[in-house]
Amino acid sequence: MEIQLWRRILDPYRQAVDELVVKFNNIKKEYQDNGIYSPIEEVSGRVKRIYSILEKAQRKGVNLDNVEMIEKNIEDIAGIRVICQFVEDIEKVVDIIHNRSDLEVKNEKDYISSAKDSGYRSYHVIAFYTVETISGPKKLEVEIQIRTLAMNFWSTIEHSLQYKYKGNIPQDVRERLLSAANAVGFLDNEMSSVREEIMDAQNTNKEKAVMVSDILSNIENLYSVASKREIKKIQDEFYEIFATDDHELLRQFERQLDVLAENYKAQRVEN
Ligand code: GTP
Ligand code: MG
Repeated sequence: MEIQLWRRILDPYRQAVDELVVKFNNIKKEYQDNGIYSPIEEVSGRVKRIYSILEKAQRKGVNLDNVEMIEKNIEDIAGIRVICQFVEDIEKVVDIIHNRSDLEVKNEKDYISSAKDSGYRSYHVIAFYTVETISGPKKLEVEIQIRTLAMNFWSTIEHSLQYKYKGNIPQDVRERLLSAANAVGFLDNEMSSVREEIMDAQNTNKEKAVMVSDILSNIENLYSVASKREIKKIQDEFYEIFATDDHELLRQFERQLDVLAENYKAQRVEN
């Protein structure tokens, strides 16, 4: 098999990864735009390197000349990684995947309920995804790994060690990694127990940010209609309220400003 041909074989996988990264990022954006907590924290994707594909094919006893068999047997040529803040979010992401019409789930591996011997924890979904190419639609497999930030931290470090020791991590290091994996499980559980509070805090901050931006754009609009003195007074009041960090005061101020802006608008219409 020519290297150039390989490149062409991988093109639709590249396309699938690019498209899915955009799509998962859009899911996150939709949640945020609606002011709802997003179960997706971060999305990334990669196409497996030719070297790793050949190595895996060899390991699985697949004939290296038989591209079709390689594509059938290696499920992670296209890989997407979805990182969540909390373990609970993983289920939600899996539900989202199940409900999408552009992804057809082939199988799932739950390494969260039962971690791998290495200590690895993550939820994997293998799904079919179709890309449109100039030679028509191509249905291919993608591997979606869903894990928490903490699980991702562990996997990243462990993966580097696998690389360093060429897959033969010394026993003492492996034991440390296992104990670190337990700590990750503990951390995720602890974080879950304060999840509601963290989410409240995140929502409050978001709300404040939206209010402040609303207030500022109202003040900006007043520049063209109100007197300098009045704007200065409003601005000073805003800074004063902002400094108190009182959510309710800020909300009241926002409403007052809305009314004021409406009044000016009404005046303008009358004039
Ligand atoms: P490979 O492990 O890649 O040979 O694939 P597989 O067909 O055996 O599937 P499996 O579900 O075991 O692994 C798929 C992917 O999950 C891997 O390519 C890794 O990205 C990740 N993975 C699985 N096990 C581990 C692990 O012990 N450590 C780390 N860091 N990642 C793992
Ligand atoms: Mg494996």
